[in-house]
Amino acid sequence: VVLGLNALSELPKWMGEIEPTRALIIFDSNVGPLYASGTATALERAGWKVSGFSFRAGEQSKTLATASRAFEVLAEIKMPRDGIVVALGGGVVSDLAGFVASTWMRGIRWINCPTTMEADVDACLGGKTAVNLPAGKNLVGVFHDPTMVVVDPDCLSTLPRRDVCAGLAEAVKHALLQSNDELAWLETNAEKILTLDPLTICELIERNLRFKGRIVTDDPHETTGRRILLNFGHTIGHAIEKCAKGDLRHGECVALGMVAACHIAQRAGLIGDETVQRINALLAAFELPTRLDLSLDRGALLESILLDKKAAGGKVRLVLLQGVGAPVIRNDIAPDWIAEAFDSLT
Ligand SMILES: NC(=O)c1ccc[n+]([C@@H]2O[C@H](COP(=O)([O-])OP(=O)(O)OC[C@H]3O[C@@H](n4cnc5c(N)ncnc54)[C@H](O)[C@@H]3O)[C@@H](O)[C@H]2O)c1
Ligand SMILES: [Zn+2]
Repeated sequence: VVLGLNALSELPKWMGEIEPTRALIIFDSNVGPLYASGTATALERAGWKVSGFSFRAGEQSKTLATASRAFEVLAEIKMPRDGIVVALGGGVVSDLAGFVASTWMRGIRWINCPTTMEADVDACLGGKTAVNLPAGKNLVGVFHDPTMVVVDPDCLSTLPRRDVCAGLAEAVKHALLQSNDELAWLETNAEKILTLDPLTICELIERNLRFKGRIVTDDPHETTGRRILLNFGHTIGHAIEKCAKGDLRHGECVALGMVAACHIAQRAGLIGDETVQRINALLAAFELPTRLDLSLDRGALLESILLDKKAAGGKVRLVLLQGVGAPVIRNDIAPDWIAEAFDSLT
């Protein structure tokens, strides 16, 4: 992982050890006009033969149909086995581009250049690639680590504030899984983070990627149980995201999912009122929702939780907190507790 201001403009330098061949830069319709031509020019100057593939921005594009169009471009440019896919964008781009790289000719190398807060602190690392199906998010994908991750926090300067805040939900998640100290660091630096103070942002990203890096190194393919912890807020969050049909950002749904999980943990006697209030206050400071303003179909939400890929043997597996820095995995939470946690959000 390379992390630094202006890192993107020096991309070929960081890729120095990789012999220049063919590159396909994948980006979406918002990122393209901002960063694609600069990135392409830098690579071309270093001897790369570069093409681009753009798709319409948004989670709705993270589909097999978009991947299929990318495969057609790869075929057109005769992408060789030693070529490289460059993902330039947020989590949607990196999930999709990683998936495309992982399946083209049974897997070629890819480089991940995150441009959103969500991707900087979370999605860029861990090798999870995916596309969505109408039945649910991320149902099709493989683990395929990027060869290199180049994080340029300068890109956040053009990111809409709503997306900056949405990505911070994952930073709150990481802090809650880690320790009181990490949570306190976020609380103390919340203002500087929101004003995108460069040094604070670099430290934020480093803290998050070090933590995520440790977890995914311990459990690269989600088999030992360690990595399940990263699903904190996501089981309920994904259900909300699916039912909200694009009205809420991924990070906003994760924030709501964490609030619901805390409600369940409190009801189970695992955490007290004080912890819940502290978490809600930090989410609110990051302008994240702690209440659901949309009216979503409760039945559909529950159904989608049961269909979630984390539902093992008909039981919903939830990550709950026994305290800050003390996550626990539970599969004994009754569906009506989950329904009641949804109700508590409205
Ligand atoms: N693979 C993983 O480990 C992992 C982890 C977390 C999230 N994710 C996935 O990531 C996705 C969410 O990521 P996201 O929030 O980055 O979504 P996103 O990629 O859709 O980006 C959010 C919005 O910001 C725009 N954008 C991106 N960079 C910009 C910039 N620098 N300036 C201006 N606009 C910019 C995008 O076009 C989009 O409209 C979800 O699909 C989620 O499932 C994956
Ligand atoms: Zn997430």
